[in-house]
Amino acid sequence: MQGVTLRLTGGDRPALVVGATRQAISAVATLRESGMPVRLCTTARPPASLIAHDEQGDFEWCARAFSQEDVSAARLVIAADGDPAVNTVLRNSARHADKLFLDATTGRGDFELLGAASRDNPRDDLWQHAQVCLVGAGPGDPGLLTLDGQQALAGCDVVLYDRLVAPAVLDFAPKNAERRFVGKQRDHHHMRQPALNALMIELAEQGQRVVRLKGGDPFVFGRGGEELIDLARAGIATRVIPGVTSGSGCATYADIPLTHRGVAASVQFLTAHGRHGELDHDWTSLVRGGHTLVVYMGVMALDNLCPALTRHGMRVDTPAALIERGTTPEQRVLTGTVSSLPGIAARHTVTSPAVLIVGDVVNLRHTIARARTLEHTEDPVIDPGSPRAYGI
Ligand SMILES: C[S@@+](CC[C@H](N)C(=O)[O-])C[C@H]1O[C@@H](n2cnc3c(N)ncnc32)[C@H](O)[C@@H]1O
Repeated sequence: MQGVTLRLTGGDRPALVVGATRQAISAVATLRESGMPVRLCTTARPPASLIAHDEQGDFEWCARAFSQEDVSAARLVIAADGDPAVNTVLRNSARHADKLFLDATTGRGDFELLGAASRDNPRDDLWQHAQVCLVGAGPGDPGLLTLDGQQALAGCDVVLYDRLVAPAVLDFAPKNAERRFVGKQRDHHHMRQPALNALMIELAEQGQRVVRLKGGDPFVFGRGGEELIDLARAGIATRVIPGVTSGSGCATYADIPLTHRGVAASVQFLTAHGRHGELDHDWTSLVRGGHTLVVYMGVMALDNLCPALTRHGMRVDTPAALIERGTTPEQRVLTGTVSSLPGIAARHTVTSPAVLIVGDVVNLRHTIARARTLEHTEDPVIDPGSPRAYGI
């Protein structure tokens, strides 16, 4: 009878779930949503978020192996133990007692759980594996958020977001989801990292689905690694969803390919913000030819890093670009050389956020602009009303 859908509604007799796997947790959540009483039998300790629901009386957790009485009393039986032998014994008991049965670890049984995680419902699938999702929001253009990022947001209860996250990205969260700003803002009080990590753990243990929304990519100068380690140490199931990092997104929106055959075969992301203020780089590797540097906290880089690069042997006429508020409608791109750019930026009062790109690839921006102009003057068949005609 596999493939028959069962609508789950309330009732007096409980559903019996056996195991403490993620499938067990998902089954308990789905059954609770349907209003059906649930009895969970497992000798393993379920996650803290689930225990909290047991304490609220939402379901009954029996810290022991299941018995034939549990099966007889049940309206339906769901096997979700990590040990297949336990699931097999349970299936035989359920059949013997003429109960509806599902093995949630294999998806085989007498019915499908409506609303249970399935490949057809990737959003639930995503949250089935995680209590907290660290989501990269990209550098500014909301169109750069990944589909997984959207799905994590759409299924969350709380969003903890940073300063550089575009407001439009927050719109992917449900209207009733709580939105908390936890980022740094000059002259404003902000939440310190240990307090923020503790908040995420507390919310997750309350059973909330938490999205930690970070600008760019969580693992690029974003402290995502530190957050992940703290969450993992606290036993919180976590998923990290990458984002377009600003170095890459800004370069692309500014028509600067970070690598280009014959121009640059390698690219390096670095920060101008030293751990204790000082810059500690392998200068010989930074100033070599055929290499592109992408410098985060780029405004700071102008006064610190640019002079240091030329002092360590970089050509003073090495092309450089500063991209301010990249990928947003306010994007500004200033170009010059590694020695002239600090002065140019000061005259144009560039402010954070900005990334600095140093290397011969910066000249390709002009090559691309010229190629676009040539293309539509030389090609008479292009419709002058088409975006291509304007090089968009
Ligand atoms: C703390 S780092 C966070 C980086 C982020 N995790 C990422 O992957 O892009 C902040 C720096 O990212 C860069 N940045 C972020 N968004 C930017 C944007 N829209 N335009 C230019 N630079 C940006 C700036 O250099 C800024 O100082």
